[in-house]
Amino acid sequence: MKARDIPAIFLLLLGLYLLSRAFTNSSAVAVPFSPIYIVLAGAAAVSVAVIVSRLRHKIGRFIVKSSIDSSLYSITLEDGEYYFVGFKVVGKEIAPEELAKLNIQNVTELYIKELESAVESLQRAKNRYLKVAIVTLLDPVPGTAVLFYIKKDDKMSKDYLIEEAMILKSTIEGVAPHISLEPISLKTNPVLPLPGSVGAVAFPGYIAWKKYEVKSELTDVEGFDIPLGKTIGVHEVPVGIRSEDVFRHIAIFGATGSGKSFTSTLIARELAKKGFDVVILDWHGEYHERIPEFNYYGEKNPLVINPLSIESQESIADIVEMLGDVLDFSDAQKFRLYLALLKVQEFDLKALLDAINSVLPDTQSQIDSKIALTRKLVMMFAGKGGELFSPKGLSYKELAEKLRGGNIIDLSFIRNTSLRRIYSMIVVKFLLEYFRETRNKTRKMYVVLEEAQNYFYLKENGRGNVVLTSALQEIRKFNVGLCIITQSPSTVDPEVMKNTNIKIIHSIKSNIDKKMIAETLSLSDQEAGMIDKLGQGEAMVVAPNIKKPVVVKILPPS
Ligand SMILES: Nc1ncnc2c1ncn2[C@@H]1O[C@H](COP(=O)(O)OP(=O)(O)OP(=O)(O)O)[C@@H](O)[C@H]1O
Ligand SMILES: [Mg+2]
Repeated sequence: MKARDIPAIFLLLLGLYLLSRAFTNSSAVAVPFSPIYIVLAGAAAVSVAVIVSRLRHKIGRFIVKSSIDSSLYSITLEDGEYYFVGFKVVGKEIAPEELAKLNIQNVTELYIKELESAVESLQRAKNRYLKVAIVTLLDPVPGTAVLFYIKKDDKMSKDYLIEEAMILKSTIEGVAPHISLEPISLKTNPVLPLPGSVGAVAFPGYIAWKKYEVKSELTDVEGFDIPLGKTIGVHEVPVGIRSEDVFRHIAIFGATGSGKSFTSTLIARELAKKGFDVVILDWHGEYHERIPEFNYYGEKNPLVINPLSIESQESIADIVEMLGDVLDFSDAQKFRLYLALLKVQEFDLKALLDAINSVLPDTQSQIDSKIALTRKLVMMFAGKGGELFSPKGLSYKELAEKLRGGNIIDLSFIRNTSLRRIYSMIVVKFLLEYFRETRNKTRKMYVVLEEAQNYFYLKENGRGNVVLTSALQEIRKFNVGLCIITQSPSTVDPEVMKNTNIKIIHSIKSNIDKKMIAETLSLSDQEAGMIDKLGQGEAMVVAPNIKKPVVVKILPPS
């Protein structure tokens, strides 16, 4: 009871006394009826209401506090003891009229919305000591649980956790009025949900004891020289990859905005510092700002190349194959172009058209197909195509020699997507050709391919494009590593999955992509379930130096 309650109590007692006098002595003359009684009775009623509400609040708080206390449990990990409190997320019943008022059809939708606001407010309320885990193993929302936990030390006691948990519980219930957090009592519910892993520590399913010893396997992540970040959870274990593994290629997957380019920036910078020559084929023109120290080739100073500088017949066939895929040539058109390219000396439109005209006798349908072929090829000579391709442009050797150190090739100014694809594919082809031919082992190269479905696309027959995909295995011998970035892994050739050794998977929402990732990485249901719950800049990392997939908060690039 507080000092400010004393006047209310005094008034209450006085009111009660006078009222009792008025009614018990009604026959006597002692106290006549007066309006003061009404005033006093009113004051007494207000006082009663205030006191009852305070008491109710106190009793409510006491009940919540003791229920949290009785649901508190501790886990002893290798680096000390942790206190946990678990809450079930329970959706309140809602009348259909109220739902209609909120303009929401489905009650689950409402719960999900509110839970999302709750998670946001939790993120804002985060503090250094208290950790929060949302366990959504029991999808959908009604099975969701929220765990608060702290590591016990001199400052952190269980009382601190209880206080914080109570504050957060009321914060959540404030922003999410249709869900409530009910402490999971160990008395009535001896099985408590836990996240599948807290940091690098995997829990064996569910916890059924108040006290539990967990042996951590911190050695799961072996040495690395490119730091990526730390695991998410109790143990913030540093995670990274080894630069020597880069030659067996990296795949970065994730929905738009999930953090792919940030992660790729981090790795590209580190590799450049380690003496790799880095070439970023920047599809959207976003890297220059992020890595200003890299050489930059953009609209004002594009790398002009000479597509016919490749001499071997095989490589010309490869270029025809790539052009044919992008520009949709028939087999006959590809063959005609191939013969024509072998004939011409210079990458010159007139020479090429003459050669195309001369290579095979024509029937009417061949004439039609020839016209279609030349119409499509003109793109490489006119407009932007004319600025990027030229017989005076860089040969594949000159291009590879030029691209030392860190380099960004901005493709975003090439509006025509087919031209953008053709140009960037030829650049990649040139680099591969150079390393294949020179077998230069003194250089180490790392090539970043954003929007990689443009390079490793699947054709209508379900097979991938041969040129770049078949190079994946071979080029690692020549110290060339690729970083293949895409938001839709299911649209790239499955060979990419097989031939990339390091996989960094940011949040993916599409079911078809999630399924494909889970299958190819043989993820457990629990691991697969995490993929769409990752936040921005968080990723599941699989690499030769990491024994099992870990979830990492990727370092923001400095
Ligand atoms: N590791 C990180 N740490 C902090 N913030 C990050 C991190 N990664 C990404 N972000 C935030 O997320 C935003 C989007 O990241 P990014 O541009 O890398 O996404 P993306 O997956 O490449 O998207 P898109 O598919 O649209 O290219 C960034 O602008 C940044 O604000
Ligand atoms: Mg990006």
